[in-house]
Amino acid sequence: MTIRWKRTFPLALGAAGGLALALALSGANAQTPPFGGDDDVAYAKTLWQLMEQAHLVGDGAIRVRPFAGNEPHGTIQEVLATTASVNGHTGRLIVKRNHGGKDGLSVGEVYDDPTKYLAAITVMFKREAGYDADNRDWFWAKFSPDGTLDKNPKGAMLAGRVAKGADAGCIACHTSAGGEDLEVLTTR
Ligand code: HEC
Repeated sequence: MTIRWKRTFPLALGAAGGLALALALSGANAQTPPFGGDDDVAYAKTLWQLMEQAHLVGDGAIRVRPFAGNEPHGTIQEVLATTASVNGHTGRLIVKRNHGGKDGLSVGEVYDDPTKYLAAITVMFKREAGYDADNRDWFWAKFSPDGTLDKNPKGAMLAGRVAKGADAGCIACHTSAGGEDLEVLTTR
């Protein structure tokens, strides 16, 4: 890449060329998202196992009262808040089951069959201080009902600081819709 660039724009570009290269490089860095890395994926897996053990997800999950919510989380939702310990750190864990996929889906239909319309499970877990001090140290993740991580359109796994610095995504929307701690429901 760099070599081809030098050939096309010879050294005569001088300072301006240097600046363009610097911008191009920082652009390349920005394409590696600050989430979805191997550590995030492994951490999300551990969280999922814990959630299964605690019957927050999976077969025989604890049932809570479904309610009508807003996009992007699905028309009908269930939310549970608890604490969990991961690698010796204990933090607040909020699990949201997102139901959808049918026009006019009702609370009653989800109540009658809690898995039929289950589309995704979105999770916020309060990590250790300093994990993401800009955004209240939340770890964000979006799972399919079978526990595999969802991906964004660019193929990045939705786990970790999702999508820190971007105009849209978990952090951006919760920053505007949520309270001081980026939680939406508890601030209503
Ligand atoms: C466009 C806005 C938006 C985006 C993007 C978004 N959320 Fe939410 N989230 C909400 C709203 C609004 C609520 C409150 C419930 C409702 O009204 O649907 C909520 C609620 C939640 C809750 C329950 C706790 C609370 O804050 O009330 C969790 C957990 C959650 N979201 C996780 C996530 C995760 C993980 C992502 C990213 C994969 C995400 N959210 C992306 C708007 C958003």
